[in-house]
Amino acid sequence: MSLRRIRLVVLFSLLCMVSLAQEKKYPQLGIDPIEKIISAMTLDEKISMVRGSGMGASTGDGPVAGWVGGKVPGAAGTTFAISRLGIPSIVLADGPAGLRIDTARVNDSKRYYTTAFPIGTSIASTWDTEIARKVGEAMGNEIHEYGVDIMLAPAQNIQRDPLCGRNFEYYSEDPVLSGHLAAAVVKGIQSKGVGTSIKHFAVNNQETSRNFIDAIVSERALREIYLKSFEITVKEAHPWTVMSSYNKVNGVYTSESYDLLSTILRDEWGFDGLVMTDWYAGRKYPEQVRAGNDLLMPGRKSENKKIKEAIESGALSEAELDRNVKRILNIILKTPTFSKYKYSNNPNLKKNAETARIAAADGIVLLKNEGNTLPLKLNKIALLGNPSYNMFIGGNGSGEVYKAYVISMQEGLDKLGYNVDENIATKYKQHIKEEQSIQPQRTNILQKFELLPEIDWTQNELSDVAKNSDVAILTIGRNAGEGSDRNVEKDYYLSSAEIDLIKNVAEAFHAQNKKVVVVLNIDGVVDVVKWRDYADAILIAWLPGQEAGNAIADVISGKVNPSGHLTSTFPMKYEDVPSAAFFPGTPIERPETAIYNEGVFVGYRYYNTFEVAPAYEFGYGLSYTTFGFEDLKLSTNEFKDQLEVSLTVINKGSVAGKEVVQLYLSAPSGKIDKPNEELKAFVKTKLLNPGEKEQVKFTIKASDLASFNTSQSAWVADAGEYTVKVGASSKDIRQTKTFTLKNDIIVEKVNKVLAPSIEFKEMSKQ
Ligand code: BGC
Repeated sequence: MSLRRIRLVVLFSLLCMVSLAQEKKYPQLGIDPIEKIISAMTLDEKISMVRGSGMGASTGDGPVAGWVGGKVPGAAGTTFAISRLGIPSIVLADGPAGLRIDTARVNDSKRYYTTAFPIGTSIASTWDTEIARKVGEAMGNEIHEYGVDIMLAPAQNIQRDPLCGRNFEYYSEDPVLSGHLAAAVVKGIQSKGVGTSIKHFAVNNQETSRNFIDAIVSERALREIYLKSFEITVKEAHPWTVMSSYNKVNGVYTSESYDLLSTILRDEWGFDGLVMTDWYAGRKYPEQVRAGNDLLMPGRKSENKKIKEAIESGALSEAELDRNVKRILNIILKTPTFSKYKYSNNPNLKKNAETARIAAADGIVLLKNEGNTLPLKLNKIALLGNPSYNMFIGGNGSGEVYKAYVISMQEGLDKLGYNVDENIATKYKQHIKEEQSIQPQRTNILQKFELLPEIDWTQNELSDVAKNSDVAILTIGRNAGEGSDRNVEKDYYLSSAEIDLIKNVAEAFHAQNKKVVVVLNIDGVVDVVKWRDYADAILIAWLPGQEAGNAIADVISGKVNPSGHLTSTFPMKYEDVPSAAFFPGTPIERPETAIYNEGVFVGYRYYNTFEVAPAYEFGYGLSYTTFGFEDLKLSTNEFKDQLEVSLTVINKGSVAGKEVVQLYLSAPSGKIDKPNEELKAFVKTKLLNPGEKEQVKFTIKASDLASFNTSQSAWVADAGEYTVKVGASSKDIRQTKTFTLKNDIIVEKVNKVLAPSIEFKEMSKQ
């Protein structure tokens, strides 16, 4: 051994001895009680623990590493590390449509791709907790194998208004559907030993003024609609963490609200994980600490100063800080980083892509299928519309995913043996290339993916197209994302060019007795009324993730029988939306206040109660087969503690399929207005062969009967007659049965908190 080498070895051994001695001197996380660890921290260290280590990834105790550096480049943030106490820095990354990390790394030719799964709305449209769990497991595998500890997902705000730019990340206008589906995803992810952060808690239902909008909501609408989805997920799936939102609720920033983050979330719901802010959310850092917003993300120096000042002045107690540090350490203890998991950087991308394909296909909703247009026989297809060749597979913003590939519709159809007209494909690809070359460069994730202008086909050209093919598939695209809301005229409604295209294609094809299928490659609810009559069949593919083309082809071919159902109402016109008149708030130029006048009458709760006919109702979705709902039975017709509901679903058609069985309950009015019916339970059947039956069972508990009674601050089940309605949508009710409740039940008394700071008149039946 050379002298230099000997010197190095001696130096290394000395360093090891010093660090061992240090470790002996200090308590160690995982070995010593957490209290001991906290008491060994300096005040500055404690304060650093309650804020993230900055945008980008931390490599340890030191200053924040650059945006591209750190353990997992492209992760959204990390926590502070104190190696002296054995506290590592854990890694948090987005969600929710897949793990968002950078694909490229410095001096590394390997690419770190992740799977782009279908968006939240698409997953929810499956109404299938099994597939949602599998998607979660697949995400969990990628989180775990890429060295990430917590995924910032699922996102489960209520789709209050179709214009919300992030609705695509969210699940539904209904909290029960959203809550159970999100719970399934959480369980799937966390089964892999990594955590989730359900977001954005709460009432983050718009992007306009998202950093300061004050959502004014009644206590009842909060409890029944906006908090309910989170409550279900917290109680059912125990997410490791919750992310508070940017907005205020009734005058207080959610990240500064003790009532929301401690009284409701922890004391009432029993949440025992940690709460983090959304990135740079809120204003008063000491208030956030006090509220029980344990971790301030992504973390900035100014927070240390303000928190320290508050402690020194006595405005904030050190005990409150310690409480938050303890919660953070408890989560760190559970992480793969803490247990030094040797992640492979090699998740099972192949298997996960299969899961993405299954989920995307199961989330596709068949809106219309005149004369059994679908499934399509193996014939020649005129594949029209830019998105057919340049599909939107996800939204923009923090929910983007950097995938290895996207299967286009042409590829998907080709692989299943269809003959997609090559001349048309070439024309589109050329057109897309030209249009893209004149689009502004995308420089950040808040910049929307552009909707390219369509080819201006002449009627003669379309007649030729129709002559040369057997059927037209025309794809219409919409995309949205973080940072802005959608526009009514240019986005919710199709442009006149798009409507003309559908109309002209229909004219050309119908003149030759050929059919037109419209595929909606959309982020959320769009108008269908102005053009749906031209189409023979309509499929909603949503933003289906990287396996887009395969999933759509699976459904078009009948390889997969569509079984997705709408998770939000498609209205006849935008003005019908209950929040339309007051979205996104006032003053109109720069909204600061959003009053939730519609109260609990969100989505179908409004349309059904006020008899406003929708274009397609909540829960709607066709299949290539038909299902019978038979033999609805209740275990009793007088409710005591709980009630069992059973029925039989039978496949009455000639192909195998799955059905979503939806259970709604109509409650007696009692002392308060009630929606006509509310979803209480749902299940997706297994794949039923023609003639095959499945017995479906549900349990109804007292909490399912209860509404939130504001004057009593309690969930109350009112005495009277209840109707169980079982069906295939909120309007397609197939069987009903009634039962009675003799006396009111106070199911749960809760704290009187979060009352609106402004008086307003809520929508009511009177
Ligand atoms: C988004 C969050 C996201 C966070 C970290 C914020 O802008 O609202 O949903 O998790 O950034 O990327």
